[in-house]
Amino acid sequence: MLRQEDDLRASPSSPLMDELQQMISSTIVTRSLLLCLPLLFLCSSASAQVSLGSTLNASNLAQAWPSPNGTFSLGFVSAAADPSSFLAAITYAGGSAVVVWSIGSAVDSSGSLQFLSTGNLRLVNGSGSTVWESNTTGKGVTSADIDDTGNLVLRNGTASVWSSFAHPTDTIVPSQNFTVGQTLRSGLYSFNLSSSGNLTLWWNNSIEYWNQGANSSIQGNLTHPTLGLQSIGILYISDPSSSSPATMAYSSDYAEGSDILRFLRLDSDGNLKIFSSAKNSGSMTLRWAALDQCKVFGYCGNLGICSYNDSSPMCGCPSQNFVPVDPYDSRKGCKRKVNIEDCPGSATMLELDHALFLTYPPELSSQVFFVGISACRLNCLVSGSCTASTSLSDGTGLCYLKSVNFVSGYENPALPSTSYVKVCGPVVLNPSSLEGTGKNKGWRLHAWVVVVVVLATAFGLILLEGGLWWSCFRNSTRFGALSSQYQLLEYASGAPVQFTYKELQRATKGFMEKLGAGGFGAVYRGVLTNRTVVAVKQLEGIEQGEKQFRMEVATISSTHHLNLVRLIGFCSEGRHRLLVYEFMKNGSLDDFLFTSEENSGKLLNWEQRFNVALGTARGITYLHEECRDCIVHCDIKPENILLDENYNAKVSDFGLAKLVNPKDHRYRTLTSVRGTRGYLAPEWLANLPITSKSDIYSYGMVLLEIVSGRRNFDVSVETNNKKFSMWAYEEFGKGNGENIIDKRLFGANQDLNMEQVMRAIQISFWCIQEQPSHRPTMGKIVQMLEGITEIERPPPPKAAVDGSHSGSSINVSSNISALSTFAASAPPPSSSSFRTSGVSPVASGRDMEKASSSHLNSDSK
Ligand SMILES: *[C@@H]1O[C@H](CO)[C@@H](O)[C@H](O)[C@H]1NC(C)=O
Ligand SMILES: *[C@@H]1O[C@H](CO)[C@@H](O)[C@H](O)[C@H]1NC(C)=O
Ligand SMILES: *[C@@H]1O[C@H](CO)[C@@H](O)[C@H](O)[C@H]1NC(C)=O
Ligand SMILES: *[C@@H]1O[C@H](CO)[C@@H](O)[C@H](O)[C@H]1NC(C)=O
Ligand SMILES: *[C@@H]1O[C@H](CO)[C@@H](O)[C@H](O)[C@H]1NC(C)=O
Ligand SMILES: *[C@@H]1O[C@H](CO)[C@@H](O)[C@H](O)[C@H]1NC(C)=O
Ligand SMILES: *[C@@H]1O[C@H](CO)[C@@H](O)[C@H](O)[C@H]1NC(C)=O
Ligand SMILES: *[C@@H]1O[C@H](CO)[C@@H](O)[C@H](O)[C@H]1NC(C)=O
Ligand SMILES: *[C@@H]1O[C@H](CO)[C@@H](O)[C@H](O)[C@H]1NC(C)=O
Repeated sequence: MLRQEDDLRASPSSPLMDELQQMISSTIVTRSLLLCLPLLFLCSSASAQVSLGSTLNASNLAQAWPSPNGTFSLGFVSAAADPSSFLAAITYAGGSAVVVWSIGSAVDSSGSLQFLSTGNLRLVNGSGSTVWESNTTGKGVTSADIDDTGNLVLRNGTASVWSSFAHPTDTIVPSQNFTVGQTLRSGLYSFNLSSSGNLTLWWNNSIEYWNQGANSSIQGNLTHPTLGLQSIGILYISDPSSSSPATMAYSSDYAEGSDILRFLRLDSDGNLKIFSSAKNSGSMTLRWAALDQCKVFGYCGNLGICSYNDSSPMCGCPSQNFVPVDPYDSRKGCKRKVNIEDCPGSATMLELDHALFLTYPPELSSQVFFVGISACRLNCLVSGSCTASTSLSDGTGLCYLKSVNFVSGYENPALPSTSYVKVCGPVVLNPSSLEGTGKNKGWRLHAWVVVVVVLATAFGLILLEGGLWWSCFRNSTRFGALSSQYQLLEYASGAPVQFTYKELQRATKGFMEKLGAGGFGAVYRGVLTNRTVVAVKQLEGIEQGEKQFRMEVATISSTHHLNLVRLIGFCSEGRHRLLVYEFMKNGSLDDFLFTSEENSGKLLNWEQRFNVALGTARGITYLHEECRDCIVHCDIKPENILLDENYNAKVSDFGLAKLVNPKDHRYRTLTSVRGTRGYLAPEWLANLPITSKSDIYSYGMVLLEIVSGRRNFDVSVETNNKKFSMWAYEEFGKGNGENIIDKRLFGANQDLNMEQVMRAIQISFWCIQEQPSHRPTMGKIVQMLEGITEIERPPPPKAAVDGSHSGSSINVSSNISALSTFAASAPPPSSSSFRTSGVSPVASGRDMEKASSSHLNSDSK
């Protein structure tokens, strides 16, 4: 039964019937056969072979060279883009719509395709100039024919000298073999088969935006992989070394119907697709596409953003700071209204939520960093060559910086990423286009019904609950008791509690007892209704959207570690943004390290200091390496290391850089570069990417201070008028490591573990290496502190480091960073030193200094 059906399908009718059928519905075949209707068979077989000297004229579209049974024919068709120019093409039965091969260049109406007596096939222009030729002169070509599979072959007798299958354009048809070294092209896009059997798509021969391997059944030692398409719609790779071909894709109408041509095409939109076309229909249907259209590199042109409306991909510009290159073709991309070069000092990063800039090999490897979202924005802003950046929020912490001329954007509500584009002057956002269109009316009506129902239900519930509440608590003294119980529950569950501003006002007695003031605002002591003592941080300069603020809060509060200060709750009300942290009884580390002699009651012994160093390292390791959204702290310093009642170290203020007002770029910039001088890694000011290694640098400075009890940037006669850290490194280099150690440690404690101290000193010098790559990771540092990992001796400090004279002499070659030099100068650095350090595109040196010093001053007590 089954076989019979198959047979039926394979030969649906007699050749004669079929031919007649074709004639009725097909225009092109009708044209070519019209003249010889009475001699049907003769005619079709006679026209299969093209003899030397034949010519096709572009002026006569009816003229064609058909295949023996008329399935394919070679003739002129008008080019889609320009009806007055013509392409010599092989088309599938059913008209000019389904072109399976063509000579790339078009000619005018007086052009012609000539099969010369020399055996050369030549396309000439109206002016007589040769546009294309097969270069088969003198190769013994005696005839040409188009066979029923669509192959145009120039032959010497029966041997093929040249064939269109061997010179594919943008399409592969069944029974065509596509091999390594061949290429399909469409505009800037190309498609190749690699020698390992992978299918690859390329943009401008440089960006590989798709690379798909065959299933493992065939992978391995391929000798001569070939890509083919079965007529039933299976795309496969075969190889002499493998008995069975590997399936790459199925056409969605696979094995359906009869008399359907399926073909693989590299479309002009850069996507690799399988189409099917029913015979004589003259139309084609998409059956498979290799990739999500918006992931095709360059689909929307340079700076274009691809997104989907209900059904199809659309191209748009990132904001009103851009205009389309061609108003009639959104795929041509966008350009800035004002070039970045034309506005030094006022470049801004435009933020695009749920958007990414496509990053494919070879770009992929060279521009990727592991940094937080705000550092990803900032790194691009301060880098002269960077034009855009993308920060993935998928837990990898990946940041891509784009310094190329061509970027290709993709926007989709489901994309977990945020992108930034550098623009000039103030950001002018796109109007949200879908609002208020007629299409949404149905939806709106629906929404109204939902809103009314929800409101009514809620109102009913409130009445009911209010009644219950009133009846239960009419006699109870305070409602507060209940609400604090709720808070206790929520607190225990680990989710951040939301407080009202009033509640926090009450908890802090009207913000009376100030604990300190950090870069993000003042901190006050408070007591919650459940008697938990808390530190309430009143954030300043944050006008972030409620939703985003909550998201950041969720991220911070989901970061739990013994050595990280715990976020208990938050308040977001009107302009008020507050964070509620657990209270640390012993304050911050700086109080213990840099106290004067008299205040020795607050001194920490070595064991305590070592535990603080280790705890801090563990907390930061968690931020860098272990938690879901990796966080670069950006401001590690003793003020941000808090001590609980048992002198356990807890790192505070992590994740805050994200909270800063995204609209005010200058403020954001400053608070992102808010790391305190002396602790700030050189790359902050040297226009280099900020990574977790920047935290390592800051940690190294803190570690040195833990050992020495001295600020790393202190300058004194004792230190030879050099910055302490630099002097210490030199002393260490001379073998006088013990000079660095805090004298007070010798006095109070006889059992000083010298081995541990020296280990800490060496680690600190590893951490403050100029080259980020020379610094160890935090995880490694923990192991080194614990003595699990051997510590190599840090490289000797370079001589001739003379940092005390001027803040602007930056010695980049020194092992200890240039910035240390810079921070050494006691008076505030001149604005010129900022300018030379490459931050100038962000804000003028003066502005930067003014604003930042206000931050820094409030930071250091
Ligand atoms: C065709 O000829 C015209 C006139 O000589 C010339 O301008 C045009 O560039 C030619 N087209 C091609 C594709 O060579
Ligand atoms: C054409 O084919 C014949 C026979 O196969 C061969 O002898 C001859 O050399 C070929 N001509 C050319 C130019 O290759
Ligand atoms: C024409 O020939 C091709 C290849 O031999 C075959 O697949 C197709 O069915 C034929 N078409 C007709 C109408 O005979
Ligand atoms: C394609 O490859 C197969 C297997 O190698 C071969 O039999 C067939 O003749 C080739 N087709 C063409 C058109 O070269
Ligand atoms: C394509 O590459 C060429 C050279 O590699 C380059 O000159 C050209 O600008 C690129 N095109 C685009 C649109 O970037
Ligand atoms: C081939 O494609 C697979 C994915 O299908 C990829 O993992 C592999 O690296 C690719 N191989 C090469 C050589 O590009
Ligand atoms: C690839 O192989 C896996 C198992 O190894 C199989 O599940 C899958 O269907 C195969 N895919 C294709 C396209 O053949
Ligand atoms: C590939 O070839 C090498 C040596 O010829 C052989 O050792 C290896 O097993 C082969 N791999 C596969 C997947 O066949
Ligand atoms: C989607 O975009 C396409 C192409 O821009 C357009 O033709 C179509 O009308 C749009 N559809 C909707 C629902 O907006």
